[in-house]
Amino acid sequence: MSTFQIKNLEEYFQVYRKSVETPELFWAEVAEEHFLWHKRWDKVLSWDFSKPEVKWFEGAKLNITENCLDRHLLNRGDKTAILFEPNDPNEPAQHISYRELYERVNKFANVLKAQGIGKGDRVCIYLPMIPELAISVLACARIGAIHSVVFAGFSSTALATRINDSDCKMVITSDGSYRGGKVIDLKTIVDEALEECSTVETVLVVRRIQAEVPMKEGRDKWLQPLLDEASSECAAEVMDAEDPLFILYTSGSTGRPKGMVHTTAGYMVYTAYTFKNVFQYEEDDIYWCTADIGWITGHSYIVYGPLANGATTLMFEGVPSYPDWGRFWQVVEKHKVTQFYTAPTAIRALARQGMEYVEKYDLSSLKILGTVGEPINDEAWHWYNNHIGKGRCPIVDTWWQTETGGILISPIPFSTPTKPTFATLPLPGVQPVLMDEEGREVQGRSVSGRLAIKFPWPSMARTIWGNHERYRETYFSAFPGKYFTGDGALRDAEGYYRITGRVDDVIIVSGHNLGTAPIEAAINEHPVVAESAIVGFPHEIKGNALYGYVILKPAGEELDPNALRKEINALIAGQIGPIAKLDKIQFVSGLPKTRSGKIMRRILRKIANNDFENLGDISTLLNPEVVEEIIKNRL
Ligand code: WTA
Repeated sequence: MSTFQIKNLEEYFQVYRKSVETPELFWAEVAEEHFLWHKRWDKVLSWDFSKPEVKWFEGAKLNITENCLDRHLLNRGDKTAILFEPNDPNEPAQHISYRELYERVNKFANVLKAQGIGKGDRVCIYLPMIPELAISVLACARIGAIHSVVFAGFSSTALATRINDSDCKMVITSDGSYRGGKVIDLKTIVDEALEECSTVETVLVVRRIQAEVPMKEGRDKWLQPLLDEASSECAAEVMDAEDPLFILYTSGSTGRPKGMVHTTAGYMVYTAYTFKNVFQYEEDDIYWCTADIGWITGHSYIVYGPLANGATTLMFEGVPSYPDWGRFWQVVEKHKVTQFYTAPTAIRALARQGMEYVEKYDLSSLKILGTVGEPINDEAWHWYNNHIGKGRCPIVDTWWQTETGGILISPIPFSTPTKPTFATLPLPGVQPVLMDEEGREVQGRSVSGRLAIKFPWPSMARTIWGNHERYRETYFSAFPGKYFTGDGALRDAEGYYRITGRVDDVIIVSGHNLGTAPIEAAINEHPVVAESAIVGFPHEIKGNALYGYVILKPAGEELDPNALRKEINALIAGQIGPIAKLDKIQFVSGLPKTRSGKIMRRILRKIANNDFENLGDISTLLNPEVVEEIIKNRL
């Protein structure tokens, strides 16, 4: 039995048992056999969830890019590492071999060094889904710089907050990007953001759309001429197992975004191991994950996990609807994609289009389908299974988080029998528990509760950049001694897990995590807004959409409500990004509050969900009378 790949259900149970009974032995075997180390570890694991402090493979020395690139040169030098499919179907795809990728990463790494970037420096990457995005990520890792990729759909304000939070020294961006029929001027967004940032010394600009962009003397540099001068050899920086590899921001239910810090060795071992098992990758497979590298899914399962396995990973610049809704299926046919990994929101949007977009293409290359980012509803699961997988491709419903670094709960295809809407069983090394509201572990089967994890796994985030106390408070205080996920879940009679959704004030819209607090703060910046509250309500395609309740100042009551709604959404788009715009905005005279002044979101949520018959006891509210008004005028 291979330590690395699980081949059937019996093996899964054996491996899982071993991973729980002797976790250190289990992970040491995985790490030993499949990776390049400069020095072996002294200790596999030390941990204390009360601090919290977690260290994996302490004392080991390595560089993750040697594991993703150098070691494949001998046997896979000519194999395609990155298969780039551009936005425009008429532009040729690019097949970047492992050798070419190695050289391009080294050149880029040498440019970073020449620009004064070294180990431990933070580099912000704000790029569209073009090969340079993956290359710049790897170039940072090559020299030990910490990358902080910011999704290129975020606004200049959101970008500035993230650059400042981790004091980035450099920003890597492009002259613009293509998204479907649109051209987006990324450089201007960066310029606007940098008016608020004092730590950035250099901006490297990739050419993508051949646009004229303003270049600030001394700060902004075109990448290509620098690459032309650079050597294609760059020795990898030898990193400690626990040196930070990257920061990736995720929304919290309150306050500023949280810069989750992931470290080197544990992240590498876990993402490589889970990629191999969850996608059962075989040598000639063409694997496609449709996420953006700006999210954790792209970090772990477009870049690091696949490349650490010597896989061919497809990178798609475009959107599912351009030039028409057949685009995904056309790409599957064109490149004979074997594993296809996407989000429920995309599946629901695709399922609404006519079947002619699917039927036009040959999808017989597909072997495994994946989903991630939010609960998949029954209807979407069956559509995916019947029309895309034609009933012969297992669906891996993968549950995980930015914080977890890798997939924690998922079927292993061809081993674990799947069940619609269930993420099924924990992967080896993962020990989930369900907790009740009093903080007791809920035992047994056919139960539900809050999902927590009671033992460390190698790719868990180690801290929040610059704020370890917030890390402790957010994840380790609800249930002392356990990592709290923020999700609710149920465990059925067979022990399968189904994730039911967030139990905190994070709302997942089209697979994007949005915290209510920053959106409310954006709305409240409007000069005639007095106060606001946001809740989620079910949406056919997006999963959830946002419903805002807004109290106006007297000056606002004279204004045209529809014009105000537009202004409020423009503010949100400017502060956060278009993904956070509200679908419904109701102007109200008050918000239901407890006597201590806390907004009762539970009530607002019920009203937005049209479920206001049974609101429970509202007599203890400070202002029960507003509830009736809100119900009467609901949208
Ligand atoms: C949700 C994405 C149900 C969940 C990798 C989690 C899911 C949050 C699933 C993390 C799934 C992710 N089923 N819910 N298969 N996968 N989620 O940080 O609420 O962007 O806490 O990481 O997405 O979102 P994040």
